[in-house]
Amino acid sequence: MNQHLRPEPVPFIDLVAQRRRLGKSVDEAVSRVLTHCQFINGPEVAELEGALAAFCGAKYVVTCSSGTDALLMVLMAKGVGRGDAVFCPSFTFCATGEVVAVLGATPVFVDVDEATFNIDPASLKSGIAVAKKQGLKPRAVIPVDLFGQPADHDAIGAIAEAEGLFVLDDAAQAFGASYKGRRLGSLGLATATSFFPAKPLGCFGDGGAIFTDDAELAQTLRSVRVHGQGSDKYDNVRLGLTGRLDTLQAAILLEKLKIFEDEIAARNLVAQRYAQGLGNVVTVPHVAAGCTSIWAQYTIRLPKGCDRDGFAATLKAQGIPTAIYYPKSMHQQTAYRDFPVADGGLPASERLSGDVISLPMHAYLDEPTQARIIKAVRGAFSA
Ligand SMILES: Cc1ncc(COP(=O)(O)O)c(C=O)c1O
Repeated sequence: MNQHLRPEPVPFIDLVAQRRRLGKSVDEAVSRVLTHCQFINGPEVAELEGALAAFCGAKYVVTCSSGTDALLMVLMAKGVGRGDAVFCPSFTFCATGEVVAVLGATPVFVDVDEATFNIDPASLKSGIAVAKKQGLKPRAVIPVDLFGQPADHDAIGAIAEAEGLFVLDDAAQAFGASYKGRRLGSLGLATATSFFPAKPLGCFGDGGAIFTDDAELAQTLRSVRVHGQGSDKYDNVRLGLTGRLDTLQAAILLEKLKIFEDEIAARNLVAQRYAQGLGNVVTVPHVAAGCTSIWAQYTIRLPKGCDRDGFAATLKAQGIPTAIYYPKSMHQQTAYRDFPVADGGLPASERLSGDVISLPMHAYLDEPTQARIIKAVRGAFSA
């Protein structure tokens, strides 16, 4: 193809633009760590935990090595294991159910609401009944705040309370979003998030955090984070992990947190422009009343019968990347297909896996570039 005719490629997530905006601040933060050399548990780790707590209103923050380990550590701290049932939406990233299965407990997959992509409370009730019939002990529910939007936490919390479950919120994609005026991190027993680079608040590698108001849980998590260490460093009192966040990543996150509010506003503006430009050709995301999304993804649903691969190819030819989160729900994947599901199957999850597609979304998506994306999406339907 003639080089001159090739359209300028649009980034799906523009980390380079964010680096430009951060300027020297991140380099200087990294340089400070390289000077003091406290690469593990350096002062930036505690400073970050304090800043994250202040940001979301949680009493305790335990940073850790990834979003997956954040989920795993809470289940370990609560002693979840064989014979326990943990309820997860099926339409999610695999880590949500994986951590349950890794501990020998049983993930029970439940369906999601098609409008919000988040756990359907009626299907959760059905999943609990299925687990009991199979002789499993219902222990916990892991709602996921998918693509950046909070789940229906009041409804889930009420079911959890009635059934004696604890709630572990998987906010890996949603730190910075709010539910009824409260930032995620302060709902349920504990909240897990991820600082994977592509996340709304990402570091320059793997990282995560756990938020809780429960002092005892926070203390146990700090022990799990370092091999189950007790008050005597060489008397390990439980099983644990090497689950720490590196000081370098904490230093980077401290700088990124300073511009996060501003980025949240920018992400909302981008989402608004998409909704205005695309609302009459595809199904654009619905944000439930009382919620704000952090727009980890901008995920649309294509009209019935639309060829999704063909649509993606049409955009790609114009330099516009897309991604499919998730082409298979968890209960449809090889490693998970033998685990129980709620009665009646999970038709909404399966439909979503068949027709969703995500468009470029980040805080630095300027208006002309976004207009190009909107025009390409609209054009794909008029063709
Ligand atoms: C919903 C969800 N849960 C958990 C995780 C795991 O986070 P990490 O990649 O930091 O382990 C992710 C990461 O994409 C996620 O999207």
